Order: sequence, then C-alpha cells, then structure tokens
Amino acid sequence: MIQANNLCKVFKDKKRGEVRAVDGVSFECKSGKVFGLLGPNGAGKTTTLRMLSTALKPTSGTAFIDGIDVEREPQRARKRIGFLSGNTGLYGRLTAREMVRYFGRLYGMQKDVIAERIDKIFTLLDMHDFADVRNDKLSSGMKQKVSIARSVVHDPPVMVFDEPTTGLDVMSSRTIVGFIKQCCNDGKCVIFSTHIMSEAARLCNRVAIIHKGKLYADGTVHEILSSSGCDNLEDAFIKIIGE
Ligand SMILES: Nc1ncnc2c1ncn2[C@@H]1O[C@H](COP(=O)(O)OP(=O)(O)OP(=O)(O)O)[C@@H](O)[C@H]1O
Ligand SMILES: [Mg+2]
Repeated sequence: MIQANNLCKVFKDKKRGEVRAVDGVSFECKSGKVFGLLGPNGAGKTTTLRMLSTALKPTSGTAFIDGIDVEREPQRARKRIGFLSGNTGLYGRLTAREMVRYFGRLYGMQKDVIAERIDKIFTLLDMHDFADVRNDKLSSGMKQKVSIARSVVHDPPVMVFDEPTTGLDVMSSRTIVGFIKQCCNDGKCVIFSTHIMSEAARLCNRVAIIHKGKLYADGTVHEILSSSGCDNLEDAFIKIIGE
C-alpha cells in the first residue's frame, strides 16, 4: 500500500521564484483499492505521483510503498511500483511486444514468465491486434496501452498511473478502466490522476482533491458528495476548490 506523509516539493524557478508544487499532502491507499487524485491543471498531481514513485525527491515529508521508505530505499521501493508517467517515451523501432519484453528483462524476469505476463496484459488491454507492430506506427491510444503494459510487466503490487486515459477514445478509456478494476480485484493498490470526474466516481474507492499543492478533500466519493452537499463529483470538485 501507499502512505504519503506531509509531502512537500518546492521547485526553484528563475522566473517564478519558489514554487510550492506540493505543500503538505498526506493520504493512504490500501491494497485492493483504487485511489483517485483529482485536481485542476498545475495542482501538483504529477509532482505527487513522481515523488511516490521515486522519480523525484521530496523537499520534505515521507512516502512509503508497502512500508518501504521511498527516499531511503528507492531501489527496493521501485521494484514494487509500476509507474506510468505522462511523458514516457517508447522505442519507435521496437514492436509493442519487444518493448514490453525488454522491460521484463530489465526487471530480471525469466523469458517464459515474461511471455505469460505479456499474454495476460495484452488480453486485458486488448493489444493482441497490434502486438507485433512497431511502436512508431501505433496511434496515441495504442502507444498509451504499450506504456501501461510496459509499466506493469513485473506485476508490481503498487501501480501509479498519471492520467492513464487522457486523450483516449471511449473504447480505449473503458479498456483501461477495466484493466485498473482487474488490478484492484487482483489485490493491487492503484493510484491514478485524472481530470475526468465521471471516471473517478465510477472507479475509485477513495479520492483526494488537491489544488495549489494542498489537499482540499480526501474520502470516499460518497463522503465527498455528502460533505459538499452536491449530487455529482464534478459539482463537488468545483465547489471544493472554489471555496
Ligand atoms: N521541474 C519543475 N520545475 C519547476 N516547476 C515545476 C516543475 N515541475 C512542476 N512544476 C510546477 O509545479 C506545479 C505543479 O505541477 P504538476 O505538474 O505537478 O501539476 P499537475 O496537477 O500534474 O497538472 P496537470 O493537470 O496540468 O498535469 C506547477 O506550478 C508546475 O509549473
Ligand atoms: Mg500532471
């Protein structure tokens, strides 16, 4: 599971001075649950997810993945995380299958285990049709699926997805939502960021709303709706960050 304790990240920017991108954010996501991180553009979602997945060091605060301190033992923590970042690049000259296999090898997995894992993920993400097509010939939705497959090839218990469905059509989004649900049913802990409130409402056991680096709300969708007095998450979101 994931624990974030008072996470802060301050960037020093020449033009803007100190940017408090994440400012004292704490939350917990449990195994077998999906946690949604919601917030407007620039809220600090990506920065938070990058700190959880060891890509970025917190300025202060701590984060634990399955009890492992991400700052003290980044390598151990990393093995337990599948991280989909917004700007993951793919090797254009490799096929989808070769790309995912390559990352499996980097994780030290055996060939037959990788092949089995690829078959399972490619089925869940509906990727078999383009499994042997070069990445540079794939559409953006197909590329996104390859990135997701790549990030979870090692079957990590914790999955961190930064906007997994942004820019995708309804079908691809549904497939990815189904994939996240399946991961959750398999006992994984999934945290993902999104701007799509209906998706968060459908998928998440808990959501956190962040704005200007600060946590504005954290709870089940039901709790957020009743405390804000709204009947849908979009209205609740606007009300909470507007206040
Ligand atoms: N490397 C960096 N250097 C300086 N400032 C940064 C850096 N990365 C992020 N920021 C700033 O931190 C703040 C939070 O950015 P972040 O990318 O975490 O937001 P976000 O919630 O993911 O937004 P979006 O929905 O647009 O993806 C922004 O003000 C951004 O400009
Ligand atoms: Mg972002």
